[in-house]
Amino acid sequence: MSTYRIAVIPGDGIGPEIVAEAVKVLDKVGAKFGHSFEYTYRLMGGAAYDAVGTCFPEDTVEVCQKHDAVLLGAVGGPKWDSLPGAERPEKALLKIREGLGLYANLRPAIMHKALAKACPIKPENIGDSMDLMIVRELTGGIYFGEHGWREGKYGPEAYDVERYSEMEIRRIAKVAFNAAMARGKNLVSVDKANVLEASRLWRKIVTEMAADYPEVTVSHMYVDNAAMQLVYRPNQFDVILTSNMFGDILSDEASMITGSLGMLPSASLADGTFGLYEPSHGSAPDIAGKNIANPIATIMSVSMMLRYSFGLEAEAKAIDDAVTAVLDAGLRTGDIAEAGVTPISTTEMGQAICDRI
Ligand code: IPM
Ligand code: MG
Repeated sequence: MSTYRIAVIPGDGIGPEIVAEAVKVLDKVGAKFGHSFEYTYRLMGGAAYDAVGTCFPEDTVEVCQKHDAVLLGAVGGPKWDSLPGAERPEKALLKIREGLGLYANLRPAIMHKALAKACPIKPENIGDSMDLMIVRELTGGIYFGEHGWREGKYGPEAYDVERYSEMEIRRIAKVAFNAAMARGKNLVSVDKANVLEASRLWRKIVTEMAADYPEVTVSHMYVDNAAMQLVYRPNQFDVILTSNMFGDILSDEASMITGSLGMLPSASLADGTFGLYEPSHGSAPDIAGKNIANPIATIMSVSMMLRYSFGLEAEAKAIDDAVTAVLDAGLRTGDIAEAGVTPISTTEMGQAICDRI
């Protein structure tokens, strides 16, 4: 029997509720396939701020590194919105990504056939399915460039710098090329090379690397056009490679095409097998504590954990298939419920998925 050690950071808002369901699913997988999952619970974000006075307890990175993977819910909420930028819950998220070297963020956007009605795109433009993967650079760009306040031409001003090194572009592009090789062999690199110098470097490196992947069809798209193409014909995409900021925006857009923000999982990977797994959505403070949030993005994130960090493909597929089965059976949380369907709760959705594993 293999044992996997997971650091669990439930976080704020709906975080604890959706993480509890994902843990339930992991335990079911463990029981069925003969693995044991051990959990170490940690505070981060607003919950940590309230408990110990900082959103990012000093030993967070060290503790996570002693585990095989990290499961994270979500952080942030209005209660902590007035904290200075460097102390905010969101900053803790950036620090853990940076501290653990998680530069590659995989965000698969899959529209289940059963959710076609929840998809805002015209059926003739999407067909009955969509399956694309956003590969988002996660530890560089404007999120991590120099930022601050200064005296400018018009008085006090704030600034954030978009910057990328060749090395950072090359390593994330490699992840995207490999993802394309394992999927439909089509890669669209999204940038703003008509305006930004960092994007011109991005495009140059991706173009150079394309020569090493002759089987992959590579094209480049400006981000404004990509945002438009995503709602126009989402099916044209297989793998989208993009920067930190553009990936943040396009992944929310892609998730909505799948029916709800509550459906999009994510894996944040370092070199090797270590990774942090979290839903792409936020802490949804407006619905926190009501047992109505959709746990599917978090549950699909643990499926990614099994696949990418532990190499447990059959186990991952068991979760994916259970999610599909639950949706096919017509079970819906409020965010994906069609008119006339009575939504089920967070815990009922978690249980329904466990029951089908
Ligand atoms: C995400 C989130 C985060 C990001 C925030 C909460 C810092 O929006 O993971 O997409 O911008 O990366
Ligand atoms: Mg986001």
